[in-house]
Amino acid sequence: MGSTASKGLQLARQKMRDAGVDEVAIDTFAHYHRLLEHGETGMIPEASIEPVDMPSLDGVEVDEATALEALRHTAVIKLNGGLGTSMGMDRAKSLLCVRRGLSFLDVICRQVLHLREAHDATLPLIFMNSFRTSADTLAAVARYESLPVEGLPLEFLQNKEPKLLLKGLVPVSYPKDPDLEWCPPGHGDLYTALRGTGLLDLLIERGYRHVFVSNSDNLGATPDPQVAGWFAASGAPFAIEAVRRTPSDRKGGHFARRKADGRLVLRETAQTPDADTEALADLDRHRYCSTNNLWFDLAAMKRTLDERQGILGLPLIRNVKNVDPADPKTPEVVQIETAMGAAIEVFEGAQLIEVGRDRFVPVKTTNDLLVLRSDVYDLGQDFVLDQAADELPYVDLDPAHYKLVGECDKRFPQGAPSLRKASRFTVHGDWTFCRDIEVIGEVELEARSAQRVDAATVLSGRTEA
Ligand code: UTP
Repeated sequence: MGSTASKGLQLARQKMRDAGVDEVAIDTFAHYHRLLEHGETGMIPEASIEPVDMPSLDGVEVDEATALEALRHTAVIKLNGGLGTSMGMDRAKSLLCVRRGLSFLDVICRQVLHLREAHDATLPLIFMNSFRTSADTLAAVARYESLPVEGLPLEFLQNKEPKLLLKGLVPVSYPKDPDLEWCPPGHGDLYTALRGTGLLDLLIERGYRHVFVSNSDNLGATPDPQVAGWFAASGAPFAIEAVRRTPSDRKGGHFARRKADGRLVLRETAQTPDADTEALADLDRHRYCSTNNLWFDLAAMKRTLDERQGILGLPLIRNVKNVDPADPKTPEVVQIETAMGAAIEVFEGAQLIEVGRDRFVPVKTTNDLLVLRSDVYDLGQDFVLDQAADELPYVDLDPAHYKLVGECDKRFPQGAPSLRKASRFTVHGDWTFCRDIEVIGEVELEARSAQRVDAATVLSGRTEA
């Protein structure tokens, strides 16, 4: 096994070199490949950690001068390299339309342009794209002529790495579509790519001190001056915004403190031994999960990366997929990934801050997308999402018909129904929804054959057809 895997590493290195991948990115990949060969799983047992507590943004006083000073020295990075594969996409999720003909990208650009004007801040907006999302994204944001900041790029590209055959960990070959032989290495690649592209140095040269990073699928993540001010005043090298876990976050990751050295860590589900699944799901014990809204000090990041020759050594995530994710009959491959938030354990003095759910509106499924497209939120003058409904509805659309965004769109040809007064909207079976439909309270639809909900229907209670 050892020698096959080493052959695998040699082949992978060569493939990356031939494709012109940056040397530090190749070394980083090699580091993880070796860990994989040695059967590394990255597990964090419950006995090695303890729960964390943290201050809440609500209780923090930030004076206006500090907030503005911080904002004026902040650069914004949006993670935009993922492909939304769980929703059946093979392009950037942020190209999807959200509201009033505006895509995620439109809303993000407008949020930033508004903040710039309101606070007289340069606030550069830079996308971290992957080889699969770059061209589309640049074309989509080209209409915002004032978006580019002189001397800074609008994007930087993350690295790419070969997908590895499960057997032997050698690069997979897929002549039918050679693009699919490659994948982006997860958002933990942010740090490698920032340094490798020279953007880290460029931002420091231009006088920026802090970076705010968030997912392009989270429109709640604005570079708010209050949060910028809190981060600057904290003096921390690195910080992540956290939210309270709710029952729907039970299976997801959480923050904790490592007993051995007191460092904060982010434990993902995949890093939890089976014996500890109960502790993982204990919302009273592990109360906070990550928003992936993250702040770091540019000088501290540069220092730390330089000390480690560019390799932060984040915990490995071993992701098994099919080489063509849309075709389960194609060979199984391992994709080596790391998560950006895991870098919290690298920085001494890193901090956590609890923020409201308004800063965490992720779109991971078509259920989330439907809520965002409905009238649950208003989009204000500042393009910030403003929750208009008293409560966020729980939406559960039948995965057989709505999991893929294309299939879902076909069934809501006139847009999302009104969900402002809905508490639960569960759809079993194949329903197509016409325009001006209102969902009130708890609604459950059940159908054995394809059904249609006519225009201007008010839905309430349970309907079987
Ligand atoms: P997720 O990990 O939730 O994945 O990304 P995703 O790519 O959006 O969706 P799936 O898992 O394929 O369905 C969180 C954020 O990180 C970005 C994504 O674009 C998203 O904004 N991301 C993810 C990157 O920028 N690079 C990556 O390699 C992975």
